[in-house]
Amino acid sequence: MDTATATLSAPETVFCQNERFRLYLDEPTIRARVNELAGQISEDYADTETPPILIGVLNGAFMFVADLMRALSIDCEVDFYKLSSYAAAKVSAGAVTELKHVDADLEGRHVIVVEDIVDTGISMRYILDRIGEMNPATLRAATLLRKPEAAQVEVHLDYVGFDIKNLFVIGYGLDYGQLARNLRAIYILDAE
Ligand code: IMP
Ligand code: MG
Repeated sequence: MDTATATLSAPETVFCQNERFRLYLDEPTIRARVNELAGQISEDYADTETPPILIGVLNGAFMFVADLMRALSIDCEVDFYKLSSYAAAKVSAGAVTELKHVDADLEGRHVIVVEDIVDTGISMRYILDRIGEMNPATLRAATLLRKPEAAQVEVHLDYVGFDIKNLFVIGYGLDYGQLARNLRAIYILDAE
């Protein structure tokens, strides 16, 4: 198999923690959508006085942030916020634990929070509230994935990659018990 084919093909099924997941969003699909979002952000921030700063939410968003940032055609900065994850579970804990605050001074900055997925919305709501207190000039939210059926709190999202089913997903940064983040595509729990 040549290298290009090997890079783009992904197995239809993977196992993580003894559970079966099936291919849901393949690499070209993710890449195309990330590029679209980056194009939109590049346009929206083309005329700002200072470059926007992306705040990636660790750990899950690291891959999305890296790809999104590389696809931007404007100047930008990056920093990270770290929240506790699901632990080893597949259901949202419902409470947020802050593991690392943002280091950058966000006062007067154009801030874009970048999440891997908005599930209940509790984490994104929490981050937007905390960053809002730092008096940014503007504050927007981007997420690669959103589960509309899981929403528990009101949160406005400015950039959404894909609306997905209310099922657990892994890959492209998203984990199950810290595993599967390195999968190049996104896989969904095979409910059957
Ligand atoms: P929320 O606070 O319920 O919106 O959940 C937010 C965080 O939980 C996300 O940033 C993810 O890190 C994690 N999460 C939510 N849904 C999934 C999933 O389907 N797979 C892996 N992680 C998830
Ligand atoms: Mg996350």
